[in-house]
Amino acid sequence: MPLQIDILTLFPRMLDGFLSESILGKGLERGLLGVKVHDLRNWTTDKHRTADDRPFGGGAGMVLKPEPVFAAIEQLQTPGCRRIYLTPDGVPLSPALAEELSRQQHLVLLSGHYEGIDQRIRDQVIDLEISIGDYVLTNGTLAAAVLIDALSRFIPGVLGEEKSLTHESFTSKLLDFPQYTRPAEFRGMSIPEVLLSGNHAEIEKWRQARQREKTRQVRPDLLK
Ligand SMILES: C[S@@+](CC[C@H](N)C(=O)[O-])C[C@H]1O[C@@H](n2cnc3c(N)ncnc32)[C@H](O)[C@@H]1O
Repeated sequence: MPLQIDILTLFPRMLDGFLSESILGKGLERGLLGVKVHDLRNWTTDKHRTADDRPFGGGAGMVLKPEPVFAAIEQLQTPGCRRIYLTPDGVPLSPALAEELSRQQHLVLLSGHYEGIDQRIRDQVIDLEISIGDYVLTNGTLAAAVLIDALSRFIPGVLGEEKSLTHESFTSKLLDFPQYTRPAEFRGMSIPEVLLSGNHAEIEKWRQARQREKTRQVRPDLLK
């Protein structure tokens, strides 16, 4: 049974293009994974469809209320599913975490908005909190999309060519090497000679050297 993902958000239409385009769109079309987007307001009970309220203790912004979120998660969850809240104070998303999640049966992803969500949601109906980076988005819908995109690459068949997974940034704790395509000469810029040599050992050596150089320059922390 392919991985099923439910996304809970106040902005379902933000995902329209994301789910129909490119590699992920094809993966969905071929049934390699399933994604359903749900409007959190469907679980509100008042006539204004209120999903948020002011924070106790004061402060700016609004906080997602517990009632609709509890109701939504309780309806969507299945035994063994992972209930994930996207949040800047969660554990950082990494290739290892994306791969682990790609092997699950069912994920429920919760996107917050405004100031975040009522802590009781996090305490009771969330299993894992994930951050997509050290910056703050206005809501978690794009973060959910990033997580789905990253994990979908580990689902067999989603990437046409499985081997494209092996040569990527981070797979060897190094950033990727530069890529070139035709024409070999463009506006006076030639591609590195070695790539035309047909000598695979030399090409590999050149690529690894570029990887180390780039990682040293941009992400020396990865080399520690
Ligand atoms: C403005 S943020 C809330 C930030 C929260 N007050 C804090 O400082 O941690 C609104 C929502 O965007 C999402 N979000 C923002 N940045 C994110 C990130 N780096 N990773 C994952 N989700 C993020 C979360 O769902 C969050 O509830």
